[in-house]
Amino acid sequence: MMQSILVTGGAGYIGSHICKELASNGYRPVVFDNLTRGHQDNVKWGPFVNGDVRSIEALRNTIHQYNIDSVIHCAALAYVGESFEKPLEYYKVNVIGALTLIEAIRLEHISTLVLSSSCAVYGSVGILPVSENSVIAPISPYGRTKSIIEMATTDACSHNRFSSIALRYFNAAGAASDGSLAERHEPETHLIPNILKGLSDSSAHFLLNGVDFDTSDGTCVRDYVHVTDIAKAHLLALKYAKVNAGFNAFNLGTGSGFSIREIISEAENVTGLKLRVKEGLRRPGDPPYLVANPAKAKEILKWEPVCSDITTIVSDAWKYFGRNP
Ligand SMILES: NC(=O)c1ccc[n+]([C@@H]2O[C@H](COP(=O)([O-])OP(=O)(O)OC[C@H]3O[C@@H](n4cnc5c(N)ncnc54)[C@H](O)[C@@H]3O)[C@@H](O)[C@H]2O)c1
Repeated sequence: MMQSILVTGGAGYIGSHICKELASNGYRPVVFDNLTRGHQDNVKWGPFVNGDVRSIEALRNTIHQYNIDSVIHCAALAYVGESFEKPLEYYKVNVIGALTLIEAIRLEHISTLVLSSSCAVYGSVGILPVSENSVIAPISPYGRTKSIIEMATTDACSHNRFSSIALRYFNAAGAASDGSLAERHEPETHLIPNILKGLSDSSAHFLLNGVDFDTSDGTCVRDYVHVTDIAKAHLLALKYAKVNAGFNAFNLGTGSGFSIREIISEAENVTGLKLRVKEGLRRPGDPPYLVANPAKAKEILKWEPVCSDITTIVSDAWKYFGRNP
């Protein structure tokens, strides 16, 4: 029988790509999402439950009804900037949501949990690239919610004897190469979809947030990792957590950084279009340089990013935006 995996936030960007990957590897993904930020038409590979991760009854019923084996927790509010405007909302959804899920897992005797964590737990790091034993010092409410979730899960794992892995994504980007999914946030705060939107609308400007960072061209440097590579890491994490007790955290990044201006230039090459750029101010909570050391995930999970070169990332994202400007 197919193993059923509960994917909270499975109607969102990363969650839907995880479901696609699970289905193509013989699992049944069961999506649990309240659609505040997701899209029901992203749910294509298994059942959908419209529910809030802060409802223990809804979570327990779903685990029961679908005979859930393991859980992947992606549901969250995930905009760094918004987290400064609505910090309590972020703590409620992200922290209370995760604690409620952990309680449901405990009560339903689920033994494996994989969590969406973030490079935002590191804040503005001095030593680069960032390894998992770098100091955890988030500089945004969003990053703080992720570090609290990790700490709570660490404690719950040792007390309640379940296994959990936090995957600290760097900048998730790109889309399914068959054009079946895309990054569709509203509002969109992520770089590549905003560049591609700007390119497909010749009357629009792209707002470049900050040109005075201490980097080679003054714009932020980030580590972009293809969402399909991120999705594949979840399957490896599930397998690892099945046989290794306790909590563990892994960076998911490539180890290479690209500045915003470099990404713009790549997008112009891929599309053959020219972007109209308007230079603006820095956003709060944006460190100048954030690049992963992914050695631990490579060595222990045997994860290897295979489609995270910047040309593939931009080309795969353009497959959707080129058709849906
Ligand atoms: N996108 C990135 O680059 C990135 C980087 C690091 C970490 N992450 C983390 O990865 C996860 C997924 O991110 P994403 O970019 O796919 O975001 P997303 O907004 O596309 O997906 C999140 C999903 O969670 C759902 N959701 C929100 N609140 C909920 C609630 N109370 N109950 C049930 N469902 C709820 C939304 O409807 C949405 O479908 C998040 O936990 C995010 O913090 C993302």
